[in-house]
Amino acid sequence: MHYPYQITSIEQYQKEYQRSINNPEEFWGEVAQNFVWRKKWDSVLNWNFKEPKIEWFKGGKLNITENCIDRFLPTMADKPAIIWEPNNPEDRVRVVTYARLHKRVCQVAQMLKNNGVKKGDRVCIYMGMVPELAYAVLGCARIGAIHSVIFGGFSAQSIADRLEDAKAEFIITCDGAFRGNKDIPLKSIIDDALIGNKLVKKVIVYTRTRTPVSMIKGRDIWWEDEMEYAETQVEKDGVVHFPAEEMDAEDPLFILYTSGSTGKPKGVVHTIGGYMVWTNYTFVNAFQYKPGDLHFCTADIGWITGHSYIVYGPLSAGGTSLMFEGVPTWPDAGRFWDIVDKHKVNILYTAPTAIRSLMGFGLEPLQNKNLNSLTTLGTVGEPINEEAWHWYNENIGKKKSPIVDTWWQTETGGVLISNLAGVTPAIPSWASLPMPGVQPVLVDENGQECLPVINEAGASITSGNLCIKAPWPGILRTTWGDHERCRTNYFATYENLYFTGDGALKDDKGNYRITGRVDDVLNVSGHRIGTAEVENAINMHSGVIESAVVGYPHDVKGQGIYAYVIFEGKHFEAELTSKDILQTVSRIIGPIAKPDKIQFVKGLPKTRSGKIMRRILRKIAEGETANLGDTSTLLDPGVVDEIKAGKL
Ligand code: PRX
Repeated sequence: MHYPYQITSIEQYQKEYQRSINNPEEFWGEVAQNFVWRKKWDSVLNWNFKEPKIEWFKGGKLNITENCIDRFLPTMADKPAIIWEPNNPEDRVRVVTYARLHKRVCQVAQMLKNNGVKKGDRVCIYMGMVPELAYAVLGCARIGAIHSVIFGGFSAQSIADRLEDAKAEFIITCDGAFRGNKDIPLKSIIDDALIGNKLVKKVIVYTRTRTPVSMIKGRDIWWEDEMEYAETQVEKDGVVHFPAEEMDAEDPLFILYTSGSTGKPKGVVHTIGGYMVWTNYTFVNAFQYKPGDLHFCTADIGWITGHSYIVYGPLSAGGTSLMFEGVPTWPDAGRFWDIVDKHKVNILYTAPTAIRSLMGFGLEPLQNKNLNSLTTLGTVGEPINEEAWHWYNENIGKKKSPIVDTWWQTETGGVLISNLAGVTPAIPSWASLPMPGVQPVLVDENGQECLPVINEAGASITSGNLCIKAPWPGILRTTWGDHERCRTNYFATYENLYFTGDGALKDDKGNYRITGRVDDVLNVSGHRIGTAEVENAINMHSGVIESAVVGYPHDVKGQGIYAYVIFEGKHFEAELTSKDILQTVSRIIGPIAKPDKIQFVKGLPKTRSGKIMRRILRKIAEGETANLGDTSTLLDPGVVDEIKAGKL
């Protein structure tokens, strides 16, 4: 069986693509009819990129949880919506049917209401990968509260900044989270984040690890107690009911913070109607999901990939989503393959960094693992190198499962450029073709469209900065509390274009290859980290005068973080001071932002106007010391030799 809007041949892709560009309103109006609306939209699309103002399905009334849950209850109440695999393979698997999901989401909605959460309020969610995280997200959506999930690898300080920016009054967290052999004390991190916070009224704590926690009277409450009480309210004579709030298509659904080229993460805002249509459409088409397939996305719900392809995409398609609490290498490096074998996974969606890390363990962890259930593989988060692509194709997909290389961003809500599994061709390390509705363009520094050039191999290739000409339903609408920031970040670099921050190549067949960020944003193990953010954190350490952070190629992480630091403190001892700095970065941002290398230097290469010449630092970090380009404009060219000599 296919979804009515599922593309099943290359000819159909071409036809649909053209239709989506020639008449987007008709195209997306048709797709949107496959969802449950309490009231139909007044207009499909209003937009300009100047302000920017982007509205999809304006005037349409709906609740996304009715689209992800309620509409499937009459026919598939007993179908698994979420299958949860715990961190420890010996522990019990949990199978959450659509009926059970409905009940739990209604309970969470009731629990939130009981605690004073209203439509439009911001609820910060800081939990491990337990089904309750999905319930929490959907419970917010049911009452129209705006969720803001924060990944468990962020520090108390990062949480505090996000709470402050979102003016969040409610938090849902866990006592702790299991990740491999670690037990992360989430509640205690929240407690640190709340020192000095005057806004947060309630912290709901779900018990996962039973690690000791301090529960502050009047503020902190147990999930279990609240849910038990809510159950008595939502369930009468075996019938579960909690009315979903009627929302406008353009009401915010969530805020998700992501790094940019400035020091401060920005709260990307997605709205309900467009995001729902986009995640569903791309889920069904990129992965070629069929009802009955088991979809395993290995991301964390703390990132956009988890939002879109663990929760909203699969559930809005009535699919079954496998949610995994643990890590790929614990208890051993065969964990993913065990899960595929145990649950008979059909679609596996993971990151190149995970593939490269597992490649390092050789083929032994694959022994005796039956991967025959797999039909489709996917990658996301960073460019995939050819070696990893072939390893994935040969050893995991056995050359029979198409690989989709899906390029997209937190801001895009869902996949923008990707082949469609088994429908359009897969080309190693090329994201390939735009999804219907997506009009990419490559421009030069001045915003002029780039022209193709013939390369050494005789192929016609265009190279430039990747922009998109018109909105698709899943595009961000604003950055929370600061619309001007959204404009300057994405819509002001080039007139009338959305600028992605990525560079790309295009071949003469219209396929795209993403080459990486062209701004000061790093991609470390598929996680986005701003160099300015890391520099700010390093500079907080006493004794640090100045620092400059760049990326360098890293075999497993894709990019590693290389920091050049000027230190003038009294107590300098290179190794120990490095560790102190790492500790500082962990505290300020979180362990995910710790530099891989710290080189202490006496000075940084600067222009006469005081600007750090990052290009030179990047080249040195990459190991290219011979050809550094023009250094004559430097204030003190001597520092370059010193830095080269001390390269780690
Ligand atoms: O540089 C691109 C890279 O990840 C960035 C977006 O990061 P984030 O918002 O955290 O979202 C990651 C998950 C969607 C992009 O600007 N990126 C993402 N997917 C790919 C990619 N680079 C190359 N190929 C991809 N498939």
